[in-house]
Amino acid sequence: MSQPFPNSCIVLFGATGDLTRRKLIPALFSLYKKDQLTNISILAIGRKPMSSEEFRIYLKQEKSSPSASQDLYDAFLKKMEYLELPIDNPEGYAPLRDRLTQYSNTNIIFYLSVPPELFVPIISGIGNSGLNSTSSTIAIEKPFGSNLESAQKLNTLVTQYFSEDQIFRIDHYVGKETIQNILTFRFANSLFEPVWNNHYIDNIQITASESLGVENRGPYYDRSGALRDMIQNHLFQVLSLAAMEPPYSLASSAIQDEKVKVLRSLRLGKDNLSHVVFGQYSGYKSESWVAENSRTETFVALRLEIHNWRLKGVPIYIRTGKALASKTTRIVVEFKKNTSILYSEPTDLERNRIIFEIAPDEGITVGFNVKEYGTSSKTRSVTSEFLQSKEWSEAYEHIMSELLLRSHTLFTRWDMIQESWKIVDDLIDCKENCPILHTYQIGSEGPKAADELLAIDGRKWFS
Ligand code: BG6
Repeated sequence: MSQPFPNSCIVLFGATGDLTRRKLIPALFSLYKKDQLTNISILAIGRKPMSSEEFRIYLKQEKSSPSASQDLYDAFLKKMEYLELPIDNPEGYAPLRDRLTQYSNTNIIFYLSVPPELFVPIISGIGNSGLNSTSSTIAIEKPFGSNLESAQKLNTLVTQYFSEDQIFRIDHYVGKETIQNILTFRFANSLFEPVWNNHYIDNIQITASESLGVENRGPYYDRSGALRDMIQNHLFQVLSLAAMEPPYSLASSAIQDEKVKVLRSLRLGKDNLSHVVFGQYSGYKSESWVAENSRTETFVALRLEIHNWRLKGVPIYIRTGKALASKTTRIVVEFKKNTSILYSEPTDLERNRIIFEIAPDEGITVGFNVKEYGTSSKTRSVTSEFLQSKEWSEAYEHIMSELLLRSHTLFTRWDMIQESWKIVDDLIDCKENCPILHTYQIGSEGPKAADELLAIDGRKWFS
């Protein structure tokens, strides 16, 4: 068994929210099944009047781990207590303070799984009631701000009550097994690291396509859009891991230092709108809670460059969107074509590729050329695959474990958030000045203009 967690109480704001039901409770239950929650209590906080027993019944009805035995799930639910609190009123936190007196010698973890407009009242409520002792920590879900200015304000508020080592800014992509594996793959193998530079890499492609539309998240999404929802956080995290220099150790601060450097060296052809493509799926404006004249982008494709020693000149293509043909998340590192004179048609040789598959399956694929069976000089392209087992497939299980251990490796440091907002603010300006918002069909691959972004460079998206 891995390292036991210290005595802790998770104070879970947003007890009846979607994220809690779909991700946090299953992640905690999974840790419980591995016998890892012995020292952990969970105090769920919500505005709805409910007893602890009623809350447990609610979770049971919403049960999202059908494979588990009912007895085991019931035993897990016994760990849960519920407290009704006017969380949007910072003056109303006395009941929480009273309840937490029961948890002496316990690390208190405030976990904010709530809509972003509730971050300020909750942090103020915790701080004003003096609940921010040095043994407490605070975990904040994304989005951390909606631009640089609002992120700075939020950061000023949270650092008024908590020091940086008590703050855990969550980005669940960093907890995904294959995304964590990028670092290991790059720096634990002498085979790949020497070619991870602009002498050998031709381009890097990051795709995060989703088949679902905005569903019931219109109120949030219509104010956010794909740039803020996916690029500023998840995809910049992925990019920084794919492009960073080796950290001097695996310590969280060493990794964070290198990730930030990548964002600082990102360049976008800002004045050249051909480097950015915005799209909106047909029918988006009729979704609930979406403005009828909305110009929110549900799709974005970008061409970026990293101006550092290692990757200068290597284009980085990123695309993400909703209501597309499939749920696919992957990073493709394409190598330059082999210019060998030995094969009659070297231009027919496929590029070598390294593909990090993040969804639907998790794993790593390496593509290379071999001799066509039965011929003397013809080649064909084959792949060798590593498929990740699903045992740890839930990113939130990693996130919870690291949080309970008070390790920052899977969380985002403030300077990373700051740098990413600087770039995304520029992109948002670019969008405001961009007259073109391409419409694309639900279930398609997105706007054709996203293909042209690569075509003008003589490339195409790997699919
Ligand atoms: C969330 C976004 O952070 O990530 C959602 O708000 C998106 O819009 C989701 O659907 C994607 O996460 P995953 O793990 O399903 O790829």
